[in-house]
This record gives sequence, C-alpha cells and structure tokens, in this order.
Amino acid sequence: MIESTSVQINGRPAVTVTDSGNVLEATLDNLSSRFHAVWLRDNGQDCRSVDQTNGQKFTALKDIPPDCLIESAVLNESQNIELVFGPDNWHTSIPFKWLWEHRYDAPESPEQPLFSGEIETWDSGFADTLPETSFRDASEDPDALHDWLQAIARYGTAKMTGLPKKNLAVLDVIRLFGYVRETNYGRYFEIRSKPNPVNLAYTTKGLQPHTDNPYRDPVPGLQFFSCIKNASDGGESILVDGFRIAERLHCEAPDAFSRLSRYKVRFRYAGSHDTDLQASRPVIQTDVDGTVTGISFNNRSISALTDIPFDEMGGYYNDIRRFEEYVNSQALQVKFRLEPGELFVTDNTRVLHGRAGYSNSASRWMQGAYADKDALYSMIRILNNQRGN
Ligand code: OGA
Ligand code: ZN
Repeated sequence: MIESTSVQINGRPAVTVTDSGNVLEATLDNLSSRFHAVWLRDNGQDCRSVDQTNGQKFTALKDIPPDCLIESAVLNESQNIELVFGPDNWHTSIPFKWLWEHRYDAPESPEQPLFSGEIETWDSGFADTLPETSFRDASEDPDALHDWLQAIARYGTAKMTGLPKKNLAVLDVIRLFGYVRETNYGRYFEIRSKPNPVNLAYTTKGLQPHTDNPYRDPVPGLQFFSCIKNASDGGESILVDGFRIAERLHCEAPDAFSRLSRYKVRFRYAGSHDTDLQASRPVIQTDVDGTVTGISFNNRSISALTDIPFDEMGGYYNDIRRFEEYVNSQALQVKFRLEPGELFVTDNTRVLHGRAGYSNSASRWMQGAYADKDALYSMIRILNNQRGN
C-alpha cells in the first residue's frame, strides 16, 4: 500500500545538490523547492527503506547519522532521484513525483487561515442547499458516496434519504465508509421519550444545539440520527455551524475568542450508576498556530467552572453567554423536520445539533450512533484515488 500521489509531473523536473550537500533543490518549470539532507534520508522510498507492500518504514532516526550529507543526486530516466548519502555511503531513491507532492518549502503565508483544509462555513441560508444523497446512490455509485462524504468534510453535515426499511438502518449508513464507535449508550441508541431517562435527550424536551458527549476523550467524531417516526407537534432538528460562530467571534469579539480558546471547561456525565465520564477542553479548541480544530458546547453537561482565574470569571461568563447567543440565533440556525427514512450526520467536533421540544411522547423515534472521522477521510482518499485524482 505505497501511498499514491496526485501531482501530475508535466513540466521538466531537475535536481541540484546545494549548501555543501545539506540541501537538494528540486525544480519543476519555474518553481523550486528545497529539501534537507536528513529529511531526504528519512524519506527514502526504496525497498530497504520502506516495505513495498504496506508502505511502512523499516528505518528509525537511530539508523540515520546526524551528520548525513547528500553526496550525489541523479534524476534517472524513470524520474526517480537516485541519492547517495555520506558519511556511510547509503543509497536510496525517491520518485520525483513523490518528492514534489511532499514539498514543504512554502513561503510563509501572510495571513493564517482560521481553519485548515477545505472548510466552508454556513449560516441559516444553508437550509436551501444542505447536501443530500439517497442511501441507494451512496451504496451503488462511488461518486455519489464520495461527494456525500466530501460534503461532510467540507460543511460538517449532510442528509441522507431513502434509508432501507429495516431496524437500525443507521448502522448500514456507517458501514458505507467506516465503523461504529460504541459507547456507554451502546452501539446505537434509541432517542425517544422514556421513563427515568438516563439523558435529557430521551424526553420530549427541546434540546439547545450542542455537540454530543464533550465529557468523552476523544469525543465521538461523527454523530448520526436516523428517523423512524416524527409525527409529533414540534421535534424539528436544528443545526448550527460552530466554525461559523468561531469565525464571527474571531472577527467581532477577539478577546472573547481568545478566552474561549484559552480556558478549559470541564464536562461531566454521571447519569447512570456505572458511568462517571469527565473531560476538560476549551469551548473553541485551537492548535499551536491558532487554527481552530474543534468546538465543544453542551449546556446539559457543562460542570461548575473552576479552571478560570477569579479575575477572568465575570468576563468568561459574558463570553460563553455570547457564544450561546450565536447558538440560539435564528440567523445561524438551519431547521428542518427529519422524516421517516431520513438521516442526518454531523461532524461532532464542529456542528452543533439540537431539536425543538415536542408534545406527543409516543410519536417521535430516532436512532442514533457514532463513528470516527478518520474512516471518513480515509474513504474520501480511497474513492479519490480510484477516480485517478
Ligand atoms: C441527542 C440529541 C436530538 C434529537 O440524542 O443527543 O441531540 O433530534 N437528539 O432527538
Ligand atoms: Zn445530541
């Protein structure tokens, strides 16, 4: 399973050793990119460096002399770069195409984007274009499945119609690309009004938009709800793009954004005798570059705030109140009635979901399940590679 590449080498590639063997400069047309000797040595693609069946590396850094230098680099007719390294006369090769796709010598971009990858944020207007496919198309047409999964990656949500008329069709949807994530709620959960509910979701109450299970580490990456029946007065589903909220705060209230991403909130669920789940994380999670990586917000499971300094607590309450105002803002909410045989999925690290309260407790029944996002991205890549992209 050698990683496949998607860069087309149409121009004239060339390589030159520079900086006394410390650097290889690769050029393609008018572009050039530099690579460190140690990086190249670490990324040899020949059969002594990498298992040609599964793509796993044989070498570790202990096998690479810290003072390694490129002694020679030759681009052969097959567009493989034949490399020789000193001081130990190590030979390896790297396809130019592979090298070019893995270049890292990019100029610093003047403005750091708030999200990484192909993210598009949305507001209430998204109701008209909520991506949707049928179960049949997603099962029979790899392009339809690809586009559906890609929509989840891009927008953090999508709908599916025409689910098989059988119990637990939600699990069949997950099987199209990945695996169920089992939790204390089971492999799946029945969302309907129950006596002595272990969760307020299992009542007729409305649920303010939230991300599920922020008390878990890691949180479930994807959550799926399929509708068995929804004949009640009320019970509409609500979605809000948490990344749009982050974007708005970043622009309109940078101090609030900064506090919501700096201070951790503890979330807890101890709703049944055998479970005491706790996890702490900021409402807006960011990485070292300030890129927003996730959102966690759930008024039902937020614990007493204790990880915020006394002098910041008043301000923090204003910030989280402001976040909640966006969560409840009509301008940001997409609202729809899920019909029997339909399902929606959310990226649970980004999009908040909720529901309107409903009156007749026997008339609404949803089935839910979780899955991890890694399988979603994996399937997108596999389907992309099959298309030859
Ligand atoms: C839940 C939930 C929404 C609904 O179970 O976590 O948010 O539509 N349910 O019932
Ligand atoms: Zn929920």
